Amino acid sequence: MRKTTGLILNLIAGTALAGAPEAPPPWAYGFKDAAPAVPAVPAPAPAPAAAPAPDAKLYTLPGSTAQFTRAQIGDRFGPADWFPGDHPVMPQIVAKGKQPDVWACALCHYPNGQGRPENAPIVGLPLNYFIAQMHAFRDGTRKSADSRKANTTVMANIAKGMTDSEIRQAAEYYSSMKARPWIKVVETKTVPETTTSVGLFLPIAGGKQEPLGPRIIEVPEDVEAVEILRNPRVGFVAYVPQGYINRGAVLVTTGRGKTQPCGTCHGKDLRGMDDVPAIAGRSPSYLMRQMVDMRSGTRTGPGADLMKPVIGQMTNTELMAVAAYVASRTP
Ligand code: HEC
Ligand code: HEC
Repeated sequence: MRKTTGLILNLIAGTALAGAPEAPPPWAYGFKDAAPAVPAVPAPAPAPAAAPAPDAKLYTLPGSTAQFTRAQIGDRFGPADWFPGDHPVMPQIVAKGKQPDVWACALCHYPNGQGRPENAPIVGLPLNYFIAQMHAFRDGTRKSADSRKANTTVMANIAKGMTDSEIRQAAEYYSSMKARPWIKVVETKTVPETTTSVGLFLPIAGGKQEPLGPRIIEVPEDVEAVEILRNPRVGFVAYVPQGYINRGAVLVTTGRGKTQPCGTCHGKDLRGMDDVPAIAGRSPSYLMRQMVDMRSGTRTGPGADLMKPVIGQMTNTELMAVAAYVASRTP
């Protein structure tokens, strides 16, 4: 009996190994290194440092008449709105969230929904798709393939704390706006040395250039504007390996026997069709993460099931080329 079970387990392990998809690439999840096979024992909490003196300095931005302290800029329940004229009036749940678990959407996705690589561009998504994703986060059918990605867990807790009516208000608000160009895709061999901060890659001040290797590294166009001021008019640069845009174009438009042309479902210009979301001009780190999550089976549901055969046979390198090309298109 014991023997048989062992044999079956070996067989299962063997099969899984033969057909197993590649591991999630750490860069798409905001990490420099792969997750350790055995989760590291968390280091003991350091003794609490003396609280820093509150920074009373008022920050300003060109083109905005507003002034905010750093605490106000990063307020989970009412972050800075630098350009109220850039968007319709935000519903309360978007602008302020709801204590204790629903942080304001505007904090991470910005009031204009353009978002950042470590979260998601949510502007202009189809209404039904938006609502379905909130339910998927709430029901636990949409999770990250890299369990270290803490802000996906925060996103799920936000969805869990919302009523259906609050979800609809947020969805109607963000769906009503149009996405604008936000990512500059640059083919290169080398990139500035980076560090990561809560899932976002940041060039190290005074750092050297380093080989890009088989990664996409997405950084703010202006570090201070994005990291400190959360300026919702400053986008990102995505460095991709040389030749990837053309490689991706071939896969996306013909499928090359490896996949299906994306335009069949995402629309001719990849700007979305009916309830299928746009993919053109969106963060390549985000696009990659989602494709890998769907391939790994941590993001599931009726829509993701349609994507599974599309990406099931693709390697990380092919998905990267696809992400580079798609991100380079006009949204
Ligand atoms: C702490 C930052 C944070 C806040 C605040 C936040 N989100 Fe998110 N959101 C995320 C992250 C991170 C993801 C992407 C998860 C991933 O890649 O695994 C995401 C993804 C999404 C998506 C999926 C987009 C897509 O194309 O499928 C939607 C929709 C969304 N958020 C809506 C909201 C709404 C509505 C609110 C406010 C009620 C909100 N988020 C607040 C971090 C946040
Ligand atoms: C058979 C139809 C179909 C085809 C072909 C298809 N997709 Fe999709 N795709 C979908 C659907 C439906 C969704 C929404 C998934 C959901 O509801 O969770 C989706 C979602 C996505 C997402 C996640 C978007 C987000 O906002 O999180 C990405 C990225 C994506 N597709 C990329 C591609 C690429 C790249 C191709 C071509 C290689 C492609 N898709 C081809 C149907 C398709």
